[in-house]
Amino acid sequence: MSDTTGDRPRRTIVVGYARNRMIGRDNWMPWQLPSDLKHFKSATMGKPMILGRKTFQSIGKPLPGRTMIVVTRDPGFQADGIQVVSSIRQALDVADAVANRDGVRDVIIAGGGQIYAEALPFTDRIIATEVALEPEGDTQFPELDPAHWIVSSRVAGERGPRDDAAFEIVTYDRLSAAGD
Ligand SMILES: NC(=O)c1ccc[n+]([C@@H]2O[C@H](COP(=O)([O-])OP(=O)(O)OC[C@H]3O[C@@H](n4cnc5c(N)ncnc54)[C@H](OP(=O)(O)O)[C@@H]3O)[C@@H](O)[C@H]2O)c1
Repeated sequence: MSDTTGDRPRRTIVVGYARNRMIGRDNWMPWQLPSDLKHFKSATMGKPMILGRKTFQSIGKPLPGRTMIVVTRDPGFQADGIQVVSSIRQALDVADAVANRDGVRDVIIAGGGQIYAEALPFTDRIIATEVALEPEGDTQFPELDPAHWIVSSRVAGERGPRDDAAFEIVTYDRLSAAGD
């Protein structure tokens, strides 16, 4: 396993996907999993977070305690309390600078589908909530090439009464250095 990220912070995707890799439907999640929202909060709190313009707009507001870096090609896009960037490269550079400023180890890549796919080659770790459902949807998380990723931890989620399904939290680490 490679934990060599050089001098830069570790880049961590946080995602929830179903058995059919679905992550989204009509700009929202295709399930209700309040227990996973708690996990998402603890995995991301205090860390810079990169997300696509569509995901940001579906959340609708900045999340407290996290610098949100929103990627868009629209030069006119702005919203209170976020940083707007125009490319994945710029997002990674801004996120690295924020992590170094704030003394945190991780930069979080928080989706959605386009951003996950584009940032995957530059990602060191994936913390995946694997949801035991096969929902219909319109947005998927890429298949992981087992030649590049190893499961370093797998923990059963504690399913609460309002969760739609059972889930596991699975951490994947990259076997060889990610792109810079
Ligand atoms: N299950 C999960 O863990 C999870 C997490 C996050 C999101 N989601 C779901 O994912 C879905 C949204 O994903 P999505 O793929 O439709 O959208 P997205 O990745 O959130 O955002 C796409 C937008 O990001 C901008 N963008 C993408 N690549 C860019 C690049 N290289 N340079 C500059 N800007 C770029 C563009 O914005 P402009 O159009 O403004 O140029 C593009 O339209 C929703 O259903 C959401 O609920 C699920």
